[in-house]
Amino acid sequence: MRIRILGTAAGGGLPQWNCGCAGCATARHTGAVRSQDCLAISGDGSAWYLVNASPDLRTQLLAAPELAPAPGSRATPLHGVLLTSGELDHTLGLLTLREAAGLSVHASAPVRAALHGAFPVGPLLAPYTGARWHTVVPGRAVELAGGLVAEPLALGGKRPRYAADLPVPPEGERTDWVTGYRFTGPDGRARAVYAPGLAAWTPAVDRAVADADVVILDGTFATDDELARHTGGARTSRGMGHLPVADSLPHLARRPGPRYLYTHLNNTNPLAHRDSPEAAALAPALAAAGAAVAEDGTVLDL
Ligand code: MLT
Ligand code: MN
Ligand code: ZN
Repeated sequence: MRIRILGTAAGGGLPQWNCGCAGCATARHTGAVRSQDCLAISGDGSAWYLVNASPDLRTQLLAAPELAPAPGSRATPLHGVLLTSGELDHTLGLLTLREAAGLSVHASAPVRAALHGAFPVGPLLAPYTGARWHTVVPGRAVELAGGLVAEPLALGGKRPRYAADLPVPPEGERTDWVTGYRFTGPDGRARAVYAPGLAAWTPAVDRAVADADVVILDGTFATDDELARHTGGARTSRGMGHLPVADSLPHLARRPGPRYLYTHLNNTNPLAHRDSPEAAALAPALAAAGAAVAEDGTVLDL
């Protein structure tokens, strides 16, 4: 299994275009930028899948040699996209893929419905490319090309803001707005978990990480009140469906073994800023739990 981490920032990226805070200003100055959360994964090194399609997708694809088309052709190694949410930072890049000859998109039922309704990416793409939409159901494994298997994990019911007013689904209907994936490589040899939106550390999450080689998880905020302190607003990390790093770290420490990498870092998160004194102060606690901050462009061979 090979993974290329394409982007590690939360929505807005680092720097965020309209933010002049010290961290964004430093990123602008030093070039230590982060593009928005997105991953590429392959079981055999030749058939590739994206997990999420970020607004930065075109630049991310151009920086990934594995994802280049075969010489003299338009034969892309990209077989499809799996979505972890319907959030704009995870779906705007689908429009960037409109030149594809065909596109497989895997999403949970409510996300698939939202992408054909409130944010109609599906209908918008239809005249450009033959997209095939597949519904993922937590616990029901999806067999992909190249021997890759993706097992969807239910991670929460937090809706994108554009979908806040959609009717509440009838009793018994799925509310899996946020999904993670546990990937297994050919012959079950390599195991990776990707969970950029993690509302809570559930028993299912605990089981999924137990025998994983690598876990790439929600590092949006370092602490619950981080955003409120920066903006003066009232939104908390947990309220936004993101378990803060301070609260997930003890779980990681309890589950040693996997390599843990925090991703989807908001520009307010001190961990997003490499070489900052705040990040350096947090580094020992992360290292003690077997964790580090994910970086754009990192390639993992499992
Ligand atoms: C999130 O991850 O909570 C969302 O992407 C926030 C947003 O709407 O940008
Ligand atoms: Mn996001
Ligand atoms: Zn900023």
